[in-house]
Amino acid sequence: MNRIRINSAEGRSLLILGGTVDDIMPLLPGKGLFIITDTNVRKLYGNSFPGGEVLSGEAGEGSKTMQTVEGLCRKLLDAGADRSSFILGFGGGVVCDIAGMVASVYMRGVRHAFVSTTLLSQVDASIGGKTGVNLGEYKNIIGTFRQPEFVLCDHSMLRTLPDEEFRSGMGELFKHGIIRDRNLFFDISASAEKLEERDPAVLGDLILRAVRIKAAVVRRDPLEKGMRRILNFGHTFGHVLETHHRIPHGLAVAQGMIIAGELSVWKGEMPHAELRLMQVALENAGMIGGYPLPAGVTSMIARDKKSESGSVNFVLLNSVGKAVTRKLSITELQAFVNYYTEKDSQSQQ
Ligand code: GLY
Repeated sequence: MNRIRINSAEGRSLLILGGTVDDIMPLLPGKGLFIITDTNVRKLYGNSFPGGEVLSGEAGEGSKTMQTVEGLCRKLLDAGADRSSFILGFGGGVVCDIAGMVASVYMRGVRHAFVSTTLLSQVDASIGGKTGVNLGEYKNIIGTFRQPEFVLCDHSMLRTLPDEEFRSGMGELFKHGIIRDRNLFFDISASAEKLEERDPAVLGDLILRAVRIKAAVVRRDPLEKGMRRILNFGHTFGHVLETHHRIPHGLAVAQGMIIAGELSVWKGEMPHAELRLMQVALENAGMIGGYPLPAGVTSMIARDKKSESGSVNFVLLNSVGKAVTRKLSITELQAFVNYYTEKDSQSQQ
């Protein structure tokens, strides 16, 4: 078991990797515990829940709405939750986003923590204190920053993950190598077979290395004023593809990373050979599919939260393992989208 601490000006968080629910019992309150989960996770792991009152909702991205947050706040109120209550989000990325959001607004904020049950949430969503729900087709446009007191990542729970969700998590795992650690990228690429088998030792090692990267970034920039933006690599195009094609988040991020790689080459920031490395690795991991950018992508991006007064903060690459942030004007972005769409449609023919 490994413990990593995020101590930042905006709060502290203890990340417990490779542990089990037994390891968090001493960290939970004796009373006032409320578990927020979804029906799938409850069916699989309800027997491992550490007591408390359970509130479960529907699984899936469609639940990430203000109505869900409002409904959960009402249930908490009806159940007598007060300012001293403790919320434990038990599930994947969607559960963590919603439970964190509820914990940060219910009675102006109550204590909270997560048991993270998917690869996607163990390497990304449960860590770093971002919470959020969607506003129509705009992802995570309503949200807060609030560090969970602790996050338990029990890797044995990944055995029950459906293949598509596992591959989705692989997108975020790859991302950490691509933005910050070339060796991690190569090690993930070389471990495809063992990962397919959900080998716990290999998974544990790769997740630990990715989480160390994320923790180091969040420690330095908890509120995403600058450096933390690199964690959004692949997300600007990825969010558009996720909403338009209704594909899992991590798969959309994988496609988004390739498009952001193309943009890096187009801008002269990265040699084409580096893009090929990414393409081959993600293709071998079964993560690249034909998901074209929809019409109107530039105006969707212009309304994304990464855009500011006519330009967009974009994460590009200088090489695999080295991300940089650049401001792009909307006009330049449109020129790239025209180039990319033309190239992509020719390669589909
Ligand atoms: N998922 C990106 C971040 O936490 O900043």
